[in-house]
Amino acid sequence: MAVTNSEAQIELHRELAPRYAYRYSFTFSRLFQQDWHAEMIGHVPKGANDILDLGCGTGFFLAELMEHHPTAVGLDISHAMLKVSDQYLSSARLVCGDAEKLPFIPRNFDVVFCKGSLHHTRDHVAFLKHCNESLRDDGKLIMSEPCNDNPLIRFARWVLYKKSKHFDIGDQGFTRSGIIALCEQAGFEMQTVKRYGVLGYVFAGFPDHLGILRFIPGNAWITRAFLAIDRVICAIPGLSLLGFHVIVVARPKR
Ligand SMILES: C[S@@+](CC[C@H](N)C(=O)[O-])C[C@H]1O[C@@H](n2cnc3c(N)ncnc32)[C@H](O)[C@@H]1O
Repeated sequence: MAVTNSEAQIELHRELAPRYAYRYSFTFSRLFQQDWHAEMIGHVPKGANDILDLGCGTGFFLAELMEHHPTAVGLDISHAMLKVSDQYLSSARLVCGDAEKLPFIPRNFDVVFCKGSLHHTRDHVAFLKHCNESLRDDGKLIMSEPCNDNPLIRFARWVLYKKSKHFDIGDQGFTRSGIIALCEQAGFEMQTVKRYGVLGYVFAGFPDHLGILRFIPGNAWITRAFLAIDRVICAIPGLSLLGFHVIVVARPKR
């Protein structure tokens, strides 16, 4: 029985690791994830060498990052998640550790990525302060986290997190203003905040939860169309409330 949140996350992700392998096994779901990753990787500044993916999980994002930045490092608390990455990341520099006790010297990285890991921690400001301390003065935090600004999305997530054994009830999404406030408390200055993922997120991103596209011919083309529509939706103020994630780019205020 898990006592701390870290132990609970290790137990939860031991169960989830095979589901992640399945999640990334379809052409259409990979198309969605690759678009999401490109959206994040596009914020890496020119000349950035030392890059950390915090909460890298099964390493699918890290694999794409390494195509451009082969020395990137991945850290995750779950050994079971890291083991899945053996299939496509045999040369990666992977660390099994807790993001809340980072085993790196301070100011070591040009970029820290967090894709969906902040909401698994309980002391968000402490986690973000660790990210801040890991970054060089001109470094960047590039993060994507569940966005709960839309009351319908907030309710759907609450039901899912409460009812499904694949989530921890303590894992909550953020509001746009809430995540900005957390970053500012941790000593960051915001550079970009944008919402990401509507139709593509729901129908293509997570076939382990909603697998309907698996049965539809032309699902890769449908996913591409969803991605194009989502880009328009997320660029329109008001409509962007339909976005399921919020992407944040911030730099340490020093
Ligand atoms: C939603 S998954 C995202 C994985 C990966 N970034 C992706 O997008 O596929 C969250 C990851 O955060 C990891 N995690 C949770 N708490 C952590 C902590 N305290 N330190 C390091 N990793 C943690 C989990 O093990 C899991 O792999």
